Amino acid sequence: DVIVAQGTESGGHGARHGRSTLPFVPAVVDLVDPVPVLAAGGIADGRGVAAALVLGAAGALIGTRFQATTEALVDPSITKAILEGRGRDTERSTVLDIARGSRWPAKYPARTLGHPYLDHWRGREAELAADPQARQNYQDDVARGTVPPLPVWAGEAVDLITDLPSATDLVPALAAQAQEALTRAGRR
Ligand SMILES: Cc1cc2nc3c(=O)[nH]c(=O)nc-3n(C[C@H](O)[C@H](O)[C@H](O)COP(=O)(O)O)c2cc1C
Repeated sequence: DVIVAQGTESGGHGARHGRSTLPFVPAVVDLVDPVPVLAAGGIADGRGVAAALVLGAAGALIGTRFQATTEALVDPSITKAILEGRGRDTERSTVLDIARGSRWPAKYPARTLGHPYLDHWRGREAELAADPQARQNYQDDVARGTVPPLPVWAGEAVDLITDLPSATDLVPALAAQAQEALTRAGRR
């Protein structure tokens, strides 16, 4: 029914050889016309939604922003990390999937906030995969509480997330902001 064009700015898993949302979305819109396209990756406020519409998308698929809403089923430590996180601290990697024994294929790395295991194993993924003791250490560290229970999946737009609204309020606010941004752009 719809195709999601996800840029590499996005939080969570995505293609290893990802493309940036800004040039990727209109290319997909042209390719799949008339199938509606949703833009994903790096959209966390109404300005981003407006940008998606201007690129020819029918709407936006938003992930990271909704983790900091009162309805989100996440640990409070994740909400705090999203509110305090910075886009420059996010990183796409397979390290945390390997360390926690997740079955995500290596061709789909995930963007997360920083993590001690990323610093320790960056560039040594094959070594980590071949080291059962390191994977056991990860489980032990989680049990001890020295590393978070789950990776904090977050995209580059985490910079724009500074409050904890209800999703019920957030959705109409995004639409109103998008409308305002489009009106402002039209006046220029
Ligand atoms: C917590 C979280 C979990 C996600 N889980 C998946 C997943 O299981 N499969 C998938 O294809 N994408 C997953 N994604 C990516 C989203 O579907 C979406 O493309 C992305 O969040 C959009 O970018 P944004 O985070 O910048 O809004 C996840 C994203 C987040 C933030």
